Amino acid sequence: MSLLSRSSVFNFAKRGFASSSKIPDLTKDRYPVKRGNYAIINDQDVAKFESILEKHRVITGEETQGYNIDWIGSVRGSSNVVLKPKTTEEVSEILKYCNSRKIAVVPQGGNTGLVGGSVPVFDEVVISMSLMNQIERIDEYSGIVRCQSGVVLEALEANVREKNLCVPLDLGAKGSCHIGGNVSTNAGGLRLIRYGNLHGSVLGVEAVLANGQIMNLMSNFKKDNTGFHLKHLFIGSEGSLGIVTKLAIHCPTAPQAVNLAFVGVENYQNVLDTFLLAKKELGEILSSVEMIDELSLGCSTTMCNIQSPLQTYPFYMIFETSGSNNAHDEEKLTNFLNNAMEKSLVADGVVTNESAKMKTIWEMRERIAESLLKMGYCFKYDISLPLSHFYEIVPVLRERVGDLAKIVCGYGHVGDSNLHLNVLCDSFNKEIYSLVEPFVFEYTSKLNGSVSAEHGIGFHKPKYLHFSKSKEAIDMMRQLKTLMDPNEILNPYKVLPPLNK
Ligand code: FAD
Ligand code: MLT
Ligand code: ZN
Repeated sequence: MSLLSRSSVFNFAKRGFASSSKIPDLTKDRYPVKRGNYAIINDQDVAKFESILEKHRVITGEETQGYNIDWIGSVRGSSNVVLKPKTTEEVSEILKYCNSRKIAVVPQGGNTGLVGGSVPVFDEVVISMSLMNQIERIDEYSGIVRCQSGVVLEALEANVREKNLCVPLDLGAKGSCHIGGNVSTNAGGLRLIRYGNLHGSVLGVEAVLANGQIMNLMSNFKKDNTGFHLKHLFIGSEGSLGIVTKLAIHCPTAPQAVNLAFVGVENYQNVLDTFLLAKKELGEILSSVEMIDELSLGCSTTMCNIQSPLQTYPFYMIFETSGSNNAHDEEKLTNFLNNAMEKSLVADGVVTNESAKMKTIWEMRERIAESLLKMGYCFKYDISLPLSHFYEIVPVLRERVGDLAKIVCGYGHVGDSNLHLNVLCDSFNKEIYSLVEPFVFEYTSKLNGSVSAEHGIGFHKPKYLHFSKSKEAIDMMRQLKTLMDPNEILNPYKVLPPLNK
């Protein structure tokens, strides 16, 4: 097992460097989209908002810019009003008024969404949940935590850790994303293989409907079979059916022992076989299985100046175990690595439970998105694919875009069949755009995959929804939307395809 690194064979400097701080084109100029028949905000509207909130929680003018641009710089709206409620009642008053005036709104959490769903397309009012950040209750016996939706994921994690619990969700954006944003996107992240998705962990929500009605769907129990579970409508609906204001989430006991293996693998078949071996040998303690290809790792190590403990391989995998007995878990993980190496599935690897080393390994994985962004404009795809075909789209797309792209790479939550496919270029490029879309979605659909494994549909994918959902299912989604938001003021132009398509 090597702890030394050979320098990367890829010269990233040669591939060029573009600053991502460039302000993107307005969404209405970059994409074919027509403004809906919504009211245009006037001074009386602003005065009304100021009467509902304190004046300083109604943001107008220059300061609204950051709320108009998404994390990857793929979309830019032109809203002049950002509202910052602190209570559910304030959210209710705002929506009641907006609905009566037919003013369109966008709920915004930490604005780390990757599908253009969290910012206005035109001049929709932004309802920022950032001040709704109170944790109401942490019950260490049941593990049930009740909080407002604007609590930052990392802050929630720090708070529940004090009671020896952990949030059943972890992702690279934890320092900025809100738990309410996570719920609204049904975020997956790094430990879905262990804890399942938020439809299971979130026990209840409180949400405000478009007409201002407060829906109290909070529950303090895992077991509650009292008819339809309406909470599910708000989990993953990306702010299109209501604004999530509170939630109850089940937080499991924090693991007492965490160990990590970082391994280098020569080919994709070995990735698959190593995964199979890990499931067999690590069983109940396995808590994360990630895959990173060579180019993706090269991005994060180079752009974030991280020293990889391994030399260069076509693929890398991270296996995390979480348990209660360190000696037992460490032995199991070490045995697994030895066996994988004996079988020639893994070329090299390291096992560690030292926090600094584990942090470095996770950083190499979690900072790939940020690294790509530092290098230019990134077309990002987040697809579920059968494991037997998981990686083949990466070389196929690489060949398809040729020299037009700086990098085509793949990484992701292989343990959950979720590939993050990325196409990097200097700046938004229509030629590449037309080469990768709808190609990626057609390809995914042919393999019965999902066009969104975890990031959602947002602004970028409504027209591709049919690749993963039947006409009947989309029709029912539309009926629910009409029932719950008849004026379509909640996050318009997102999730559902326009009616005339
Ligand atoms: P936002 O981006 O603000 O909003 C996302 C959507 O939810 C929008 O449609 C918005 O309107 C809606 N929304 C937000 N809050 C509310 C609310 N209270 N009520 C109703 N609607 C609301 N995602 C994953 O699933 N797994 C990952 O591993 C992962 N890793 C990431 C790593 C990085 C570095 C980045 C930048 C993003 C990553 N993401 C990942 C995507 C993103 O972090 C998640 O989608 C996250 O859940 C969004 O939370 P947010 O608070 O930033 O929401
Ligand atoms: C991740 O797993 O890193 C994210 O979902 C973000 C990305 O797709 O890059
Ligand atoms: Zn992810």
